[in-house]
Amino acid sequence: MSHLTRRGLVAASAALALARADAVLGLEIDRRAGLDPFALGVASGDPSLDGFVLWTRLSADGAPLDAPSVPVSYEVAEDAAFARIVRKGRRAASPSLAHAVHVEIAGLRPGRPYWYRFHALGAVSPVGRTATAPRQASRARIAATSCQHFELGWFTAYRDLVAAAPDLVVQLGDYIYENSYAQFPKVRAFDGPEPTDLEGYRRRHALYKSDPDLREAHRLLPWAVTWDDHEVENDYADLANLKALEEPVFARRRQAAYQAYFEHMPVRPSLWARPDAPRLYRRLAWGDLVGLPILDGRQYRSAQACNAPRQAGNRPRRDCVELDAPDRTMLGAAQETWLADGLKRETARWTLLAQQTPIAPIQTPEGVMSDQWDGYPAARRRLIGALTQPAVRNPVTLGGDIHAFLVADLHATPERPETPVVATELVTTCLAASHAPRARYGEARARNPHLRFADIERSGYLLLDAQPDRLEIDLRAVSDQADPNGKTASLARFVVEDRRPGVQSA
Ligand SMILES: [Fe+2]
Repeated sequence: MSHLTRRGLVAASAALALARADAVLGLEIDRRAGLDPFALGVASGDPSLDGFVLWTRLSADGAPLDAPSVPVSYEVAEDAAFARIVRKGRRAASPSLAHAVHVEIAGLRPGRPYWYRFHALGAVSPVGRTATAPRQASRARIAATSCQHFELGWFTAYRDLVAAAPDLVVQLGDYIYENSYAQFPKVRAFDGPEPTDLEGYRRRHALYKSDPDLREAHRLLPWAVTWDDHEVENDYADLANLKALEEPVFARRRQAAYQAYFEHMPVRPSLWARPDAPRLYRRLAWGDLVGLPILDGRQYRSAQACNAPRQAGNRPRRDCVELDAPDRTMLGAAQETWLADGLKRETARWTLLAQQTPIAPIQTPEGVMSDQWDGYPAARRRLIGALTQPAVRNPVTLGGDIHAFLVADLHATPERPETPVVATELVTTCLAASHAPRARYGEARARNPHLRFADIERSGYLLLDAQPDRLEIDLRAVSDQADPNGKTASLARFVVEDRRPGVQSA
């Protein structure tokens, strides 16, 4: 009998035993098998004033659990020793969701840390730490990450991030990669082929959660995540895809990828009421200091301009008339309206707009790249319009995607540098991946004077420190992503001052 089959029987009988017994602990479980049901870790996310979402996924040492529905109990405490437990309850971990568990906690006190753990199959999970958002804040420290390719680099930047202990980690997409890049050196390999179905995407997500640095960052800090393209397939746009497959065919792949994403992320199940059309855009806040709208720039966007029908792909474009069509959209009409309406009522000192791709125009030797906001200029003008409503005191955009640090001034008319600077753009580099191509971006600053800083050689992340009178920005860079003991340090620092769009040197 294989290990896994045996494990499945153990789990199944345990589940039956639990269904009969009322107590969750003290099960007759064969622990000699030594398989850890919590090997994929624990996570929390989307903190609100009175709660957050807690996550885990039961597995057999990372492999799928071969078992029917398994009861899981959770505890939330005000202290790390669980002397003051303030919430507890039980959920069923169902095979239909890969034995993932999402618990939305509400009714807690604002602005304080909480600790949580799960019990299942006679085991106790690692203790996670999270927090509720404060009602008022004089400081908010937020880390922004994007683009983590499992094969191309170690995730050592998370050690520095965990040591920095920000209030929140914002992941801006490309959390997983579906594809390999044969032309770049690998530090480790995927454990299977490119995923195209639910089983494949689940396996890829589980592999990511085997990374101890990533797992620890989830355990110790609340996250707010959104996706970019590689969570499904490189460069996809709504249902346009790389192989120009018929829409219903690609829709099935996309839905599988979306489901696996939800199953593995600390995202509120209330956003996931429709599995075929999950809503990922939402707003978080850190007191009256930071408003954090989080966008979905993939699910609803028009296909990249001047491609064949159903054909996705990021291409350099010039003289592409379709690019300027006013009805082309990055966010879709509903999300665009939601964003503009929310920003009309913005009350936070700093608005950090979390989204995926660079917004500032970037001229390359071959033209502009069609997958970025450069490929959607009419939508970009509408975005800048929404961001510069009077209620938005300090608009700052966060992005990722191109595997380079960029700091940019955003102008009232983005393509016209003679118009006033109205917002600040911060693009984080890849946490670990291949870097932006030199031929395309090596001269980016010389060609694009509104880029105040560009680095296309380092991996790392952004560390932001929001205070009432200033936003401090630290670009944290890894010494060498191929070094499993790589060290992370400051590459550059900037400041945005209250009511003064654009960066100053720190
Ligand atoms: Fe990426």
